[in-house]
Amino acid sequence: MDDQTITKAVNDRYARAVTLGEQLCCPTGYNYEELRRFIPEPVLKVSYGCGTPVGLTSVQPGETVLDIGSGGGIDCFEASRLVGPHGRVIGLDMTDEMLALARAHAPTVAANLGYAASNVDFRKGQAEAMPVDDASVDLIISNCVINLSPQKSKVFHEMYRVTRPGGRFTISDIVADQPLPNYLRYDTEKWGDCLAGALSVHDYWKGLREAGFLGIHLVSALPWRVIDGIHFFSVTLAGYKLPHDTASSASCFATLTGPFPQVTDEFGQTYTRGIPERISARTATLLNLSRYRETFILSEAPIRLTTLDPRWKAVLPEERPCVWEGHFAVLTGPFLDVHDDDTHVYHSGLPVEICSKTLKVLTSALYQPYFLIMNRASQTPSSDSVICEPGCC
Ligand SMILES: C[S@@+](CC[C@H](N)C(=O)[O-])C[C@H]1O[C@@H](n2cnc3c(N)ncnc32)[C@H](O)[C@@H]1O
Repeated sequence: MDDQTITKAVNDRYARAVTLGEQLCCPTGYNYEELRRFIPEPVLKVSYGCGTPVGLTSVQPGETVLDIGSGGGIDCFEASRLVGPHGRVIGLDMTDEMLALARAHAPTVAANLGYAASNVDFRKGQAEAMPVDDASVDLIISNCVINLSPQKSKVFHEMYRVTRPGGRFTISDIVADQPLPNYLRYDTEKWGDCLAGALSVHDYWKGLREAGFLGIHLVSALPWRVIDGIHFFSVTLAGYKLPHDTASSASCFATLTGPFPQVTDEFGQTYTRGIPERISARTATLLNLSRYRETFILSEAPIRLTTLDPRWKAVLPEERPCVWEGHFAVLTGPFLDVHDDDTHVYHSGLPVEICSKTLKVLTSALYQPYFLIMNRASQTPSSDSVICEPGCC
């Protein structure tokens, strides 16, 4: 099955779905009551996303937003409202029937919002070769689309090209806890179902990093399906294109506060809790991004922390026997790897089996934002046979 066959199958699937007004894919978290005030019902009916465009909460009036795989236009129209009449929205899709529906309702949405004309430009095109200017977009959104592309690396590189320095993305998509076997990857029906094209968390994050994005982290996740032991999740993730000019940053030392005793950032620099590290201006910009900044003190002079310092953060495992219950934890960025206080090392995107004690640590408020947790046991394990000694894991 070549790339063109996959793209045609996906195109036909969504052309049929929108023509018949089918319901597809996953639960989303829209406030339909709110959206109904300005978006016509036929658009709401063909909402085929797998998340809500939470990235839109950070949108400022006047910004330019690009929605990759805009479908019937639901997220574009919400973006249109948020960027205001002086902002711009580009909706990109390859399926004529989707574009026709979205374009047909754009004037009504503009009128409902009180705009003189629609600020949404629905463009026909491929996510792998976007008809969008270089460095012209403040925010990229996308809702359940990139898994449908047979050439995701091209999509990630195109995203980076069109994002302005200092811009960002927030996308929802389907990912798996492991790479898919060939019998699923080559199942044409499952491409349209947003399953066959799902990347593993590891490969998704790596693809975005290789394209140039940084600060890539999970915003939210929901379990979607389990097929043949493979766990599929609907995730929303965010990341940034660093600005060119970082000279304004005065910080040149970073002290890791925890909860991790050791981490490695996306530039490959390693930090130990409490020990100040000299950093470049570019690293200071990186460590100021969401999820990084919660774990560091950035300062002009070195700051060393002891365990008694109120800024020192740690979550220690309970000192009692643990039980293996089938749980696995996946580090979801932005760090390349982190350690916990019980000798585990977690690498970005790679599942690590964890016991009940570690589960408690990783689901604590300080650790939880960094991990995706799943249980791979199909039956409840017999606790007698899996009890281990303190400190064993
Ligand atoms: C699952 S639907 C999601 C639509 C919309 N984002 C929403 O939330 O309702 C996927 C959409 O992406 C479009 N699409 C899929 N692959 C694409 C590609 N490679 N380039 C451009 N559009 C694509 C399809 O035509 C379809 O409209």
